Amino acid sequence: GFDELIEAQPDAIFKLNALYNQDEDPSKVNMSIGAYRDNNGKPWILPVVKKASEIVEKDPNYNHEYMPIAGFGQFTKAAAEILFKPNDHLLKEDRICSIQSVSGTGANFSAARFIAEQYAQKNGAAVYISNPTWPVHRTLWESVNVKVETYPYWDAKNRRFDFEGTMDVMKSAPEGSIFLLHACAHNPTGIDPTREQWKSMFEALLARKHLVVFDIAYQGFASGDLDRDSWALNEFAKSNKDFFVCQSFAKNMGLYGERTGCLHYVAKNSTVKRKMQSVLCLIQRNTISNPPAYGARIAAAILGNPELFEQWKEDLRTMSSRINEMRSHLRDSLVALKTPGTWDHITDQIGMFSFTGLTPAQVQFCQEKYHLYFSANGRISMAGLNSSNVDHVAKAFDHAVRS
Ligand code: LMR
Repeated sequence: GFDELIEAQPDAIFKLNALYNQDEDPSKVNMSIGAYRDNNGKPWILPVVKKASEIVEKDPNYNHEYMPIAGFGQFTKAAAEILFKPNDHLLKEDRICSIQSVSGTGANFSAARFIAEQYAQKNGAAVYISNPTWPVHRTLWESVNVKVETYPYWDAKNRRFDFEGTMDVMKSAPEGSIFLLHACAHNPTGIDPTREQWKSMFEALLARKHLVVFDIAYQGFASGDLDRDSWALNEFAKSNKDFFVCQSFAKNMGLYGERTGCLHYVAKNSTVKRKMQSVLCLIQRNTISNPPAYGARIAAAILGNPELFEQWKEDLRTMSSRINEMRSHLRDSLVALKTPGTWDHITDQIGMFSFTGLTPAQVQFCQEKYHLYFSANGRISMAGLNSSNVDHVAKAFDHAVRS
């Protein structure tokens, strides 16, 4: 059986991570996968997560029972509260349907599957993703048989957001298309629209009655401020149009492997919310049955305790400010080396990644000659940099650009 099977390509991001692990050169640098590292290059258990996990495990009610199909209620409610704080009337009006997911990927999957079955299969709508985007966005929507189109997000020549190109597509796409938007800290470019640009985009999306799905994987991690990073989706929420939000706690709580996330749907009213809840629960039951418990318990402990919540905000600032220091250091080193080109984009960008502008050949050069591991599109995970390796990385980039 299965003799005709076509072998699938390994995932490019995870493959780089594996190649890094195999490399025995002491100067190797891992800038592949988007996961935070401390200044010693080590994974960081957030101090607040350490405290919360002790509280969770000491709880006399702690056990390994199943979660409800929709997930841990204390977690999903608190997750909605931090997301929609400026629009808390939506919670009071019981218009937010929140289903715990297998992190952001699971939220994206459940949203895509629901929209495929209940919307795209009926009206033929395509989903528009940014070019470029996190690669799984494309393959995941393709896996539920929704046609994938793109909007031209990255203006490579000027190394900026292609606002005009994006607006053109939003205006010309067939009415009722699906638009997937990165709510903050765009992956892979690190470039977000300005608030004025967001407002114009929302006008176009609303005028064309497009269905919007926000993906938010970096709330608080990007700027160090939870409310600033959720500004765009809260601005959109003012319109009263229904929409989806895929929320991950992988990066902002460092709960990568615990798969902690939530899918939210903001409904027109509580009746639609209730119906949506029932249908999303059916999808959940048929895919994962019920979601993972441990990370949700930790997140709920943090979000539900004012003292831990404050400490979490402190931990978020620790991560985002270290990344910003590395941005400045890398740019300054390249400027000091007089590396051809301009490098301000490194400090203008935000979040986990910098889109360096290096070509695939230059990326290859850096890997072969300097043992740097990062995506062929020139994306570096900023968290891979630290005070011991940033000058080495700058030297490698300088050499690559001059070669
Ligand atoms: C990334 O883009 O590196 C992260 O979001 C991790 C992943 O799952 O790809």
